[in-house]
Amino acid sequence: MSTEIDIYDPSLYEAGMPWDRYARLREDDPVHRHAEPGGPGFWAVTRHADIQHVSRHPEVFSSHAGGIMVPDATEEQLSRNRLMMLFQDPPEHTSTRSVVNRGFTPRMIGKLEDHIREICHDLVGTALARGSVDFVADIAAPLPLYVICELIGAPSEDREKIFTWSNALIGADDPEFATGDLTPIFELLSYASALGARRRAEPRDDIVSKLVAPGEDGTSMDDLALGVFVMLLAVAGNETTRNAASGGLQAFFDHPEQWRRLLEDRSLLRTLPDEVVRWVSPVITMRRTTLADTELGGQKIPAGEKVVMYYPSGNRDAAVFPDADVFDIGRDPNPHIGFGGGGPHFCLGAHLARMEVRVLFEVLAERAPDIAPAGPTRRLRSNFVNSLKEMPVRMGG
Ligand code: HEM
Repeated sequence: MSTEIDIYDPSLYEAGMPWDRYARLREDDPVHRHAEPGGPGFWAVTRHADIQHVSRHPEVFSSHAGGIMVPDATEEQLSRNRLMMLFQDPPEHTSTRSVVNRGFTPRMIGKLEDHIREICHDLVGTALARGSVDFVADIAAPLPLYVICELIGAPSEDREKIFTWSNALIGADDPEFATGDLTPIFELLSYASALGARRRAEPRDDIVSKLVAPGEDGTSMDDLALGVFVMLLAVAGNETTRNAASGGLQAFFDHPEQWRRLLEDRSLLRTLPDEVVRWVSPVITMRRTTLADTELGGQKIPAGEKVVMYYPSGNRDAAVFPDADVFDIGRDPNPHIGFGGGGPHFCLGAHLARMEVRVLFEVLAERAPDIAPAGPTRRLRSNFVNSLKEMPVRMGG
């Protein structure tokens, strides 16, 4: 048992993803007892099959019984968290999710494709006119933010403040972003509640109107529930998609033959998004807590312990992916777990995120085929999201 391996330290991730350590753990100690600074320790799960098992057995591996992240949240944070479906178990989660699913139908998401294309053309067009830009700040970050504003029907003049609140909610490990201030949470909550009240009075053909209107069973979201949901969208939908976009472009820079392949054959846009998500794995971990004594990957785990799934590791598992360490935009099938390992919490925005990544690379291939790196990248100091803070690029040759 390789007790000394550390895959927790956030500063490790500032330097790069610890692919070698993941590989060693998958090989030698796939359900690894990991030390935790200031905490009781946790089980690090690194194989694809074990991550799927944890994700699909919420009756043993609970989201409700201990938050998601390490280290443990305070009681106050926990009670706030539990309003969010990310921190609920069935059957409570099942009923929240069934209300939310009303808004996330293929029709509602499909309606956004033309808007997403317009947004991408605007962002890429502006960047082309400037010549050199920071791909993160100028393209990858605004894209999902504008899409979420579009999704909830927020007016474009509100984009900047929603962006500021969202940034304050995430990246808390990084001194550049962490404030410890709860104000943005309350501001976003009250903003979303007010939006809900407006749509209840004057419904439109948008998601918020669908959520606040009574469904067939008469249930609907009240203002607080809507506020919490919009907050979850801001947290779950922004930085993840940003990282998929910037990490995806970095993958093309590192594998120029894949970029040439795309320029010659746009039918690869169909399989590209899933390979980008597998390769980048924008979310590094989610956590569950055991409700009963159990066994995983040959390890006995007592009740009440933290179990942390390492998605990037599962996505490089050679037991599942032939040539797992090769970036192949035509990979098919691609049973990656970048959106979660299946089960009730599987990413609600997966379809939307794939669409954003597909349309962005479609527009880049069309308008900026010679895009190239223009300086060193900077990474976020986070063991939760695989994130680039800065990525200078030249848009033309
Ligand atoms: C490439 C981009 C994205 C990645 C990699 C990603 C990844 C994930 C992961 C790993 C989970 C947890 C799954 C689990 O615990 O089993 C999740 C949950 C979730 N995601 Fe995403 N996500 C992305 C984009 C989005 C977008 C665009 C939205 C919405 C606008 C979104 C909304 C959500 C929500 C609401 C949940 C919680 C679902 C639940 O608890 O039932 N995500 N996502």
